Amino acid sequence: MSLSIRQALTEDIHHLTGIDAVARNDERRREQLAQAIRARECWIACKANDAAAPLGYGCLDRSFFGEYFIPLVVVSDASRRTGVGRQLMTHLERVASAQKVFTSTNTSNLPMRQLLAQLGYQHSGTIENLDPGDPELVFVKFMR
Ligand SMILES: CC(C)(COP(=O)(O)OP(=O)(O)OC[C@H]1O[C@@H](n2cnc3c(N)ncnc32)[C@H](O)[C@@H]1OP(=O)(O)O)[C@@H](O)C(=O)NCCC(=O)NCCS
Repeated sequence: MSLSIRQALTEDIHHLTGIDAVARNDERRREQLAQAIRARECWIACKANDAAAPLGYGCLDRSFFGEYFIPLVVVSDASRRTGVGRQLMTHLERVASAQKVFTSTNTSNLPMRQLLAQLGYQHSGTIENLDPGDPELVFVKFMR
């Protein structure tokens, strides 16, 4: 699918909440998203011919020991498995323009783990005790 990826604006928050089931139900996620938009750390993917209707979003910050870190990438249910997540991740890697980029996901999140494997991320540690019974796996990608 041909996508355009741009920085999210304050007025995009309603669309992003609409495609992110967690944000719809979790005030903390909505605040995280709003904060990322204010900090210009959130990018959205839209169809190339419809820049107003996001299909997904991703965030990039330096919250992980000062390293580039992708804390969130979310694709609408209807647009999954069409390459949106892959294109968002690749865009964030380009924006970081760093030697390495980190991200993390729950052990149970097989779609994200598969996406990371496809993009060349390697396991870089495990954090216990965030979600009970579902350790957080940290990944890193070394850029060439
Ligand atoms: C994880 C997520 C972002 C993937 O986005 P996506 O746009 O569907 O992913 P893509 O279409 O770019 O898929 C790229 C590759 O990832 C893997 N993948 C993605 N979804 C998968 C699934 N459900 N099962 C297995 N592999 C999957 C595949 O290797 C896929 O390549 P292929 O389609 O050529 O086989 C999406 O499922 C999502 O938004 N999940 C909810 C939010 C979340 O958990 N985010 C991650 C932690 S913040």
